[in-house]
Amino acid sequence: MKKELFESIINNYDELKYKLLEAQTFDEEHFGFPEIYYKIMETDNQRVNAFKKAFFLNGNFKNKTICEVGVGTLPLTKLYMPFVKKAYLIENNPDLIPIINNEISKYDWKDKVEVMYVDALTVELPEKVDFVIGELMSIYCANEFQVQIFQHMRKFLKSGGKLLPNRIVNFARLCEAEIDEGIHHYPVNFTRHQPMFLTQQFLVNEIELMKEKKQGVNLSFSVPILFSGNINALYLESYVEITEGANFTGTDSLMPPTVLKTTNTQKVEAGDLVHIDFSFNYGCSLDNIQCVLS
Ligand SMILES: C[S@@+](CC[C@H](N)C(=O)[O-])C[C@H]1O[C@@H](n2cnc3c(N)ncnc32)[C@H](O)[C@@H]1O
Repeated sequence: MKKELFESIINNYDELKYKLLEAQTFDEEHFGFPEIYYKIMETDNQRVNAFKKAFFLNGNFKNKTICEVGVGTLPLTKLYMPFVKKAYLIENNPDLIPIINNEISKYDWKDKVEVMYVDALTVELPEKVDFVIGELMSIYCANEFQVQIFQHMRKFLKSGGKLLPNRIVNFARLCEAEIDEGIHHYPVNFTRHQPMFLTQQFLVNEIELMKEKKQGVNLSFSVPILFSGNINALYLESYVEITEGANFTGTDSLMPPTVLKTTNTQKVEAGDLVHIDFSFNYGCSLDNIQCVLS
């Protein structure tokens, strides 16, 4: 059985190239992400355990008041609920209402919960909380409003309160990629779909979620070229500090390395310096990132 499964993956590598992209694409008809994406997220132990470690490092929030935004199917919520004093759980995907209500009713912590089916960008909480948790991340914070939601939610923190996650660091490499017509970006699921890298990894920006005031990124910088070729794409990576000591550097379920077409292409030789003008707004969609090479 295992051998057949492996062989079937090998036989279908090409067809699988954009499957993760499809699973992670916002689905208007489903009021949010397709069901399969929730499954991908829930079953990703590396992602869930990074949060579990962060909760543990914060004393499992024992006797604290929490607000979690974008609770999804509750995989993170269930980890801390037995310990906390009270939790406000926020979700705005209407498809999840029966699933969340049904799930909560199974636990003896149900009386400590207030569920709010509202938009976290505008919600008002009845009291200040010790922690705001929110896993609404996407590579570069480009497809989801993680930054804007935390800019709004941080005013509901008590003095000394914390945001989880806390810091996001975005890296890139310039590369030559095989991208099919009609595709503007794709998350990499198999290493054979990685592009050829023409530079080393460089830092693009760092977002400290408690302090970030900006709505986006507007940068201009130069990068040395290691290999000759035709640059037509960026390889994006986001590393996340959930809390000091609990980090997450991306998996297929969340913030996978992503190939994104550059605005123009540029022929380069090893030893050149390439200039990049890079700009986008958080939550604007990856496809609206401008990356002009000269
Ligand atoms: C990446 S999923 C994570 C779900 C869950 N926290 C987990 O870790 O599996 C983000 C969730 O946030 C919800 N969401 C996105 N934007 C939101 C908003 N503005 N207000 C409330 N929920 C939102 C989505 O519907 C989705 O369920």
